[in-house]
Amino acid sequence: KARDVAVIVGSLRKESLNRKMAHALIALAPAPLKLEIVEIGDLPLYNQDLETSTPPPAYTTFRERVARADGVIFVTPEYNRSTPGALKNAVDVGSRPYGHSVWSGKPGAVVSVSPGAIGGFGANHHLRQSFVFLDIKVLQQPEMYIGGADKLFDEAGKLSSDSTREYLGKFLRAYADWVERILAK
Ligand code: FNR
Repeated sequence: KARDVAVIVGSLRKESLNRKMAHALIALAPAPLKLEIVEIGDLPLYNQDLETSTPPPAYTTFRERVARADGVIFVTPEYNRSTPGALKNAVDVGSRPYGHSVWSGKPGAVVSVSPGAIGGFGANHHLRQSFVFLDIKVLQQPEMYIGGADKLFDEAGKLSSDSTREYLGKFLRAYADWVERILAK
């Protein structure tokens, strides 16, 4: 049975390079992985006062979707050398109520995508800081800092770089192995 992998995109805009990259990953995923984007744009800003017996339906839907995933891949831009607020919000929503985090033990990966030269390194590593506490088992290699991303897609939004396609393939194979290793424990 294929592994169900939630793909969380850290940008909310329609023409997002990160969303295009997520679609490229979905298209290239090897058979043991089935990737699906899980949306975060409708999650209200995290507020502990909303954690009543009836939390916002968007919180519940998101938590249940991530909880049943076998793994999670984060595809994120860098905002001011850090993680976009919308993505951090989704991470926070999934982490609560205390003791009921949906992230614990999941095999994860981080791909950062930027038109800039640094490839979203700051966003990538700030996310990883939270993942230590949340116990997301994050793939270390290959690291995925994708710079110059405004040059990687054609007008239809399809990946037009063969070398990037090859690299994404290598990453996805490493991640597929990682998922099996973590879930076997
Ligand atoms: C950016 N951008 C940006 N890029 C970068 O490489 N490092 C950074 O620190 C920042 N900071 C930043 C802050 C804010 C508020 C915005 C809106 C943008 C530029 C960013 O990489 C670019 O807009 C990407 O295209 C955003 O990703 P999506 O939306 O294309 O996926």
